Amino acid sequence: MNAAGVLGMTPDILKRVYDSGAGAVISKSIGPEPRRGHPNPTLVRVECGALNAMGLPNPGVEYFVEEIQEIKKMGVPIIASFFGGSTQEFADVAYKLSRAGADALELNASCPNVAEELGMLAADAANVEKVTAAVRDETKLPLFVKLSPNVTNIKSIAVAAEWGGADAITAVNTSKGIAIDINLRRPILANVTGGLSGPAVKPVSLRCVWEVAQAVKIPVIGCGGITTGRDAIEYILAGASALEVGTAVMTHGLDVYKEIADGITCYMENNGFTSISEMVGLAHDYENIGVDNACLGMTK
Ligand SMILES: Cc1cc2nc3c(=O)[nH]c(=O)nc-3n(C[C@H](O)[C@H](O)[C@H](O)COP(=O)(O)O)c2cc1C
Repeated sequence: MNAAGVLGMTPDILKRVYDSGAGAVISKSIGPEPRRGHPNPTLVRVECGALNAMGLPNPGVEYFVEEIQEIKKMGVPIIASFFGGSTQEFADVAYKLSRAGADALELNASCPNVAEELGMLAADAANVEKVTAAVRDETKLPLFVKLSPNVTNIKSIAVAAEWGGADAITAVNTSKGIAIDINLRRPILANVTGGLSGPAVKPVSLRCVWEVAQAVKIPVIGCGGITTGRDAIEYILAGASALEVGTAVMTHGLDVYKEIADGITCYMENNGFTSISEMVGLAHDYENIGVDNACLGMTK
């Protein structure tokens, strides 16, 4: 899948993502009302990745209902990413997206713009459980909860989402960072801080998948810096059953989805695997892996 928000989200773009080899597409995060987002600059390329502070710009759920219907007409499976400012708003937006015909929902629990009742939602296990449960009450659709890596104990947040009724955990959103212009002697992003994505975050995001996979029984969706088939295999071995790819599209174009899929197939053929599920989490058994099982290598 594409990672939420990295590309635009017109039906045409999402259709192109699907045609390029993604198994399903994800919208950018939709909120209850239209939002302009942060002022520019909102995106800066940094070493091995990008730093963004878009501020969740989106047309609002009412408008997006029509877009979902258009995407569905094209035969593309659509996962609607969403957020709210309060528990009630999360539930209301989820309800509207379900009624509009989305195939699944991804609750963006990393959203920083929430009312005081939710505190720092991303890092607050009790509130993540509360919001997930409120959304669960409104929809029967598969519900993914997307976590932030910027927390002390991601396992506890993942378990809270599972208790709240999540069907899968997406791990993870961007890592908080900053970039400074040495000539202007000021932060580059208008918002000062932003979210780091791309290869720079891969080891951190992979560690999050590893920990979440140990903590929950529901499937984990890996996200963060995936660019090649090799990255994808690392995530699957760490415990991911599915993957999201975002920033790699900026560097490799839409062909990256097919390249990654081909890389996964190549590894599977070289190593005698016939399904992804045979590989999920295998690296956790590292103490029992003998030399006989040594990897035959990737060609891509
Ligand atoms: C420009 C940009 C916009 C993003 N917008 C969203 C968003 O609306 N909702 C969300 O959950 N994540 C958003 N993200 C985070 C990505 O979905 C993804 O979690 C992150 O970029 C790490 O994956 P990557 O390294 O493959 O890009 C955004 C990332 C970028 C770079």
